[in-house]
Amino acid sequence: MSAEKDPAVEAAEAELARLQAEAEAAEAALRAAEAKARLAAARAAVAQAEAGEAADPETAPADPEPGVESAVAGDSAAAPAAASEPTGATVSARATSGPLDQDDVRAIAAAYAFEGETLDIGALVNGDPVPDAQIRIPLGMLNRHGLVAGATGTGKTRTLQGLAEQLAAKGVPVFAADIKGDLSGMATPGEPNDKLLARTQGIGQDWTPAAARVEYFALGGVGKGVPVRATVTGFGPLLLSKVLGLNHTQESSLALVFHYADKNGLPLVDLEDLRSVLTYLTSDEGRPELRELGGLSGATAGVILRELITFAEGGADVFFGEPEFDVSDFLRTAPDGRGVVSLLEVPGVARRPELFSTFLMYLLAELFEILPEVGDPDKPELVFFFDEAHLLFRDASKDFLSAITQTVRLIRSKGVGVFFVTQTPKDVHEDVLAQLGSRVQHQLRAFTPDDAKALRATVRTYPRSGYDLERVLQELGTGEAIVTVMSENGAPTPVAWTRVRAPQGLMDPTPEARIEAAIAASPLLPKYGERVDRESAYEMLTTRMNAAEEAQRRAEAEAELARQRAEVEKADRAAEKKAQQEYERLLKKTSGRARTRTSSRAEKSTLEKVLGSRTTQTLLNGVIRGMFGTGRR
Ligand SMILES: Nc1ncnc2c1ncn2[C@@H]1O[C@H](COP(=O)(O)OP(=O)(O)OP(=O)(O)O)[C@@H](O)[C@H]1O
Ligand SMILES: [Mg+2]
Repeated sequence: MSAEKDPAVEAAEAELARLQAEAEAAEAALRAAEAKARLAAARAAVAQAEAGEAADPETAPADPEPGVESAVAGDSAAAPAAASEPTGATVSARATSGPLDQDDVRAIAAAYAFEGETLDIGALVNGDPVPDAQIRIPLGMLNRHGLVAGATGTGKTRTLQGLAEQLAAKGVPVFAADIKGDLSGMATPGEPNDKLLARTQGIGQDWTPAAARVEYFALGGVGKGVPVRATVTGFGPLLLSKVLGLNHTQESSLALVFHYADKNGLPLVDLEDLRSVLTYLTSDEGRPELRELGGLSGATAGVILRELITFAEGGADVFFGEPEFDVSDFLRTAPDGRGVVSLLEVPGVARRPELFSTFLMYLLAELFEILPEVGDPDKPELVFFFDEAHLLFRDASKDFLSAITQTVRLIRSKGVGVFFVTQTPKDVHEDVLAQLGSRVQHQLRAFTPDDAKALRATVRTYPRSGYDLERVLQELGTGEAIVTVMSENGAPTPVAWTRVRAPQGLMDPTPEARIEAAIAASPLLPKYGERVDRESAYEMLTTRMNAAEEAQRRAEAEAELARQRAEVEKADRAAEKKAQQEYERLLKKTSGRARTRTSSRAEKSTLEKVLGSRTTQTLLNGVIRGMFGTGRR
């Protein structure tokens, strides 16, 4: 028997040995990393304790004598928070230093362990963070929509940023309005600091700085970004009624005006177009057409016209016009496969809240229009963050509300996920709220009896849990939230007190110069940068009204001319008659005297005399003046 081995076996053994060595090295590296993370977290906690920052909500260490009451109250003492247990270990005893017992914690960890791809929200907090219990949203359930709510400064924007970054990294385009300009930081890698790293390590987040591919847009081109405009026709009467604050009757009247314009081939591109149609319908020429329309009174048309003028004079005319924005430009991915994050700057939201929220609704409705049905995809086509959502629902008419509810319900099958971002869930209409699968509820405050009532109402909308939610919701730290999501089988997950991951981008705005450079280099700028003004209702109606006016002027002038001609003829006849009489008188006088000598010359000279007389001259002058129309002046 030969001692020589088969070369194939030899190669396989060598490969096996290599893989084993590699696996061992990887394991060692992992252990080292974990140890380092624990060390860093412990160091940070000690440093914080020494600095007397023990009560800092973001990294609050646990109470050494943990009990439900004290942990919930957050009055923890400064024990070194060896917060993170080794990953993969079974849920540790330290994980039960909060309101939940070990079984609860295990159940939560299991309920959030999904099969498919997920977005990571953060780690469960039970007194301490429990890095083994990661709280996530299944990527495929994002089209079941969501809510991010919380009082100001509690972490909504950072939660939104973190979700948006992860979505983009997984190839999902994202749209968000950047109201305070603080989301632009996504375009710049974040900056680490000890506090941040202690936080991320504590929740088992392997934090590295990263930037997303961001495209900047500006509503109406006011502000920094590629201009986003809508045509009036595209916007439609319902949304326009909302921004104009019209009542129900006026709303249906406006719909008739749109119908009229459409039927008569009058394109409504900008506000000027709509204004000219209303002006026309309330003018003498247009009144018969107004009557024919039925259901639209001149008075109502007048009111709408006034509202429209005020609206346009307030500067809103820049938001309407061409080129109209094509929302498919929000569905882009970068060449490397990452989703593009579209950030819309909205100037002066506070001054024009209804315009802002209505515009977002318009964009959503447009997306609904252009996207095909996809059912329930593995990952969404787009996730749309609807910030300051309370503005959308405020003073909304019944029709408008029903339009929102329908859009939100149906857009799911087009693969679009909508996240409403607002201060309290009561800002969102209950029909819409009922459709939101994921909820990330940051701290709520209950300063007034109204707040307290809203808080209790919010609590009632959660599934039963091991938490005293009314209390916990008021005591969550900054960047912590009460979370429940829709699991892959469509059932809500158990409520989890979560410390939210930190975004990998900058938590401050991206520097202006970089934003400007990005806009200047945008491939969309040539398409939308310049406003164009094509022939539309305004120009067409102006021409029509001018033509009508011109015709009337001409008719008047012709009538005047005819009148004057008649006057001239009358005067002519009178003059002739008078001359004849004068002639005959003279003839009589002279007859018999120089009759024979009377020549044609004598006759002529008499006629000349008559024509030269003062009365005749005055009469003739009057006729000439009349013909030039200057007579009465
Ligand atoms: N997940 C997080 N990780 C790290 N820090 C966070 C996190 N969430 C919030 N913070 C800290 O809290 C601050 C306030 O958070 P954020 O701006 O998200 O609040 P907000 O709820 O959006 O407030 P506002 O209602 O005023 O817009 C952040 O600037 C950041 O320092
Ligand atoms: Mg914010």
